[in-house]
Amino acid sequence: MLSVVVLISGSGSNLRALLEAADNPLFPARVVAVGSDVPAEGLAHADQFGVPTFVVNPKAFASREEWADMLLANVQHFEPDLVVLAGFMRILPANFVNALTPNLINMHPSLLPEFPGAHAVRDALAAGATKTGATIHVVDEGVDTGPQLAQRELEILPDETEAELHERIKQIERELIVQTVRAIAELKSTN
Ligand code: GRF
Repeated sequence: MLSVVVLISGSGSNLRALLEAADNPLFPARVVAVGSDVPAEGLAHADQFGVPTFVVNPKAFASREEWADMLLANVQHFEPDLVVLAGFMRILPANFVNALTPNLINMHPSLLPEFPGAHAVRDALAAGATKTGATIHVVDEGVDTGPQLAQRELEILPDETEAELHERIKQIERELIVQTVRAIAELKSTN
């Protein structure tokens, strides 16, 4: 059984998809804790499923490295096999990434390497792209640059707003993250 810590900053709909999948005893992974950098709305999903949560706010620390060390200590307390960044909106410093990678994965709402960064959906629309999508990748020290694990395309509809497009991308992300976590769990159980 793969144990997973999920880190979020927002509404946590991808977290919820994982919690719902893992609620099935046949799913080969369990969410053992959920962390955040802010008192995120999505932490309520973890509460509903009886999963412990923690918040480590960077404002309480003198440097990003000290913040990340505390975040890492909270994550490692739960001894996860895998850490999933599910809408975690802060760039993690090298001390955090190097301690966990390659067992640290991120989801991103574009067809990486196109449109990395915090405004991927807006950037795709502004560039006049006709298609975009979602990517799951291993986190390395760059921003949205690590090796890709899964990717799916989506056509951009005429006159679609950023919010409408992002919601359609998130529907794909929810499926992809559940499939990817399942695949990692199955791979690890045969090794
Ligand atoms: C997702 O699109 C993720 O790729 C991005 O933030 C969004 C998180 O959505 N980085 P949610 O909080 O899981 O609903």
